[in-house]
Amino acid sequence: MKKILVTGGAGFIGSHVVRLFVNKYPEYHIINLDKLTYAGNLENLLDVEEKENYSFVKGDIVDESFINELFAAHDFEGVIHLAAESHVDRSITNPTEFIKTNIVGTINLLNAAKSSWGEEMKNKIFYHISTDEVYGSLGKEGYFVEDTPYDPRSPYSSSKASSDHLVRAYFHTYGMPVKISNCSNNYGSHQFPEKLIPLMIHNIKENKPLPIYGEGLNIRDWLWVNDHARAIDIIFHEGKVGETYNIGGNNEWTNIALVKHLCKVMDTKLGRPEGESEQLITFVIDRAGHDMRYAIDASKIKTDLGWEPSITFEKGLEDTVDWYLENEKWLNNVTSGQYQNYYKKQYNN
Ligand code: NAD
Ligand code: DAU
Repeated sequence: MKKILVTGGAGFIGSHVVRLFVNKYPEYHIINLDKLTYAGNLENLLDVEEKENYSFVKGDIVDESFINELFAAHDFEGVIHLAAESHVDRSITNPTEFIKTNIVGTINLLNAAKSSWGEEMKNKIFYHISTDEVYGSLGKEGYFVEDTPYDPRSPYSSSKASSDHLVRAYFHTYGMPVKISNCSNNYGSHQFPEKLIPLMIHNIKENKPLPIYGEGLNIRDWLWVNDHARAIDIIFHEGKVGETYNIGGNNEWTNIALVKHLCKVMDTKLGRPEGESEQLITFVIDRAGHDMRYAIDASKIKTDLGWEPSITFEKGLEDTVDWYLENEKWLNNVTSGQYQNYYKKQYNN
């Protein structure tokens, strides 16, 4: 079996990638390495945890000797690197954690891969998952393309930009076969309810205020997480070594329009009179350095690899709302912190 290391596989996007690969590729052994920070939740992977071609390893990518030992113990054919601190607001209050995980963690993986792969390196893949936020903030016009100059403006996006540069440097300097993709905002099941969409779903359900930063006019380009996982599969297998691919939903919404739409969907699902949930909208102080607009031009991945989003935003959002309403236990465990006991119970330590 080909061993593939997925880092951050207990998180939101990582768990969708792990599920896709474990189910689609029985000939691969997927090893999920995750530190299980507040954002990592093994309950995201209950449906694959007993599969023979899946293993979980708890560990920190910042721990250099642990990472070197892991690479010495396994002959990985490929790495799909998703582990990161991912929430912009947390990066504003605690930037150092982002530097450690996103930059130091990435260089530890690159170094371990380089030394354990040695002469065999040319047959391997190091695939780094990044974000559109590295390109900075757009005005009303234009789109991010693969060679848009980097202009990160938050500690999160700066740390991700730095890791992208390091990955490219290992391609140019050491000939490491790398691939990078930069994706727009994801939404879907299993997303930690600190991010806009699950936070709003949770608060609407609980009749709590819906905090909109500033005037709610910032724009994001939303993509269903399963479509991101499909893109990662295609790039991992068919993307060109040394290349970058932008991934996006071609689906721009201002935050206020999105939250109002979500309120309508939730009113219907919860049997509330239309307009009731919207009353919960509350404008709060803006995020520091809040990027105005992100919008991806995803024509390269469409033309070169034939990928495009598989469902409309309206359908994806409705399915997402259904998932959160049907998985009350998951949401309650996450919001109460109860999910962190799962590892103890499952692994006995
Ligand atoms: P997430 O915060 O939901 O999950 C991150 C995972 O990484 C968690 O399971 C966490 O436990 C793990 N992790 C964190 N620090 C670690 C460490 N030091 N060692 C090992 N594991 C560690 O994040 P996400 O939203 O799933 O994002 C995954 C990746 O995709 C990130 O690299 C992020 O930058 C990128 N990305 C996210 C989005 C988005 O909209 N969420 C869009 C584009 C790119
Ligand atoms: O663009 C890709 C990025 O998308 C990823 O790299 C990040 O990991 C991911 O967190 C996301 O970043 P954003 O900052 O765009 O996502 P977030 O869900 O935090 O916020 C989306 C928008 O909603 C943003 O303009 C801020 C606003 N917002 C967010 C929260 C949490 C609010 O108005 N109120 C809120 O309470």
